[in-house]
Amino acid sequence: MRGMTRAMMWSLVALICFISRPAAGGPQTASGATVDKNCIGGVVVNSNGAKPEAGVWVIAETKLQVPFRKIVVTDDQGRFLVPDLPDGSYELWVRGYGLKDSERVPAARGADKVKIQVANAATPQEAAKIYPASYWTSMIHPPAKEELPAGYASQEQWLAALRGGCNQCHQLGMLATRKHTDVDDWDGIFQRNQGMGQAATRLGKELLEKTLVDWELRMKAGEVPPMPPRPAGIERNFVVSQWDWGTRESFSMM
Ligand code: HEC
Repeated sequence: MRGMTRAMMWSLVALICFISRPAAGGPQTASGATVDKNCIGGVVVNSNGAKPEAGVWVIAETKLQVPFRKIVVTDDQGRFLVPDLPDGSYELWVRGYGLKDSERVPAARGADKVKIQVANAATPQEAAKIYPASYWTSMIHPPAKEELPAGYASQEQWLAALRGGCNQCHQLGMLATRKHTDVDDWDGIFQRNQGMGQAATRLGKELLEKTLVDWELRMKAGEVPPMPPRPAGIERNFVVSQWDWGTRESFSMM
């Protein structure tokens, strides 16, 4: 019965892949992918020397009833193909580790030679602006083992509780959590939400505030995390579609 269900699932997957194959007949990119009327294809090059940029994100944006974007990654030769775009007029831009976000380039569906130029980030601090939150939190120095509140057996356990505690509600390491260099600021913030206050108390509030201020002062002085690797291999096969669905009031916690 189990095997049967699995066989049915694979047939369904095969059918979906078959149905969603791109229609033949459109212009072909060098990689053999078809750029039909629903796709936009092209190449990303560095403005300094026209070197192709591999493993960077190309983001195609439009406004349907709500803002809509599709994100793909460039291949070894800097080429990209954004597939299956709904009708609309698009703007494309590029984000990648080591780079400054590119300018936006207008492009129509069916275009197969869109060229997007992108420049290196001027400083390590500028490059780091787009690093994931977890890279920033990797710079937090935990308190010494003997300082930890009762119940924490190791620094790793405290750090895991810190990440887990804050990330229940919002990401530790996102910009809004990286700019408070004063213990009093933190005191005020932790009072703004009961769950947040409780999370801070469990970690030892004073110790937590001291740890966070030390982290933020080092960031303010220019310390940055290591540069994350760019997507490679099958990580470049991802196509991400995003629709905005919230309003300004969607995340109000009374
Ligand atoms: C139970 C949910 C919850 C938890 C857990 C939580 N927070 Fe918050 N946090 C919030 C809410 C809600 C706000 C917005 C409060 C407001 O502005 O009225 C907020 C705001 C903040 C802000 C202010 C952002 C700004 O706009 O400047 C910081 C910084 C922050 N949290 C850090 C933390 C840290 C560090 C932790 C872990 C120790 C944590 N939070 C845990 C819910 C939470």
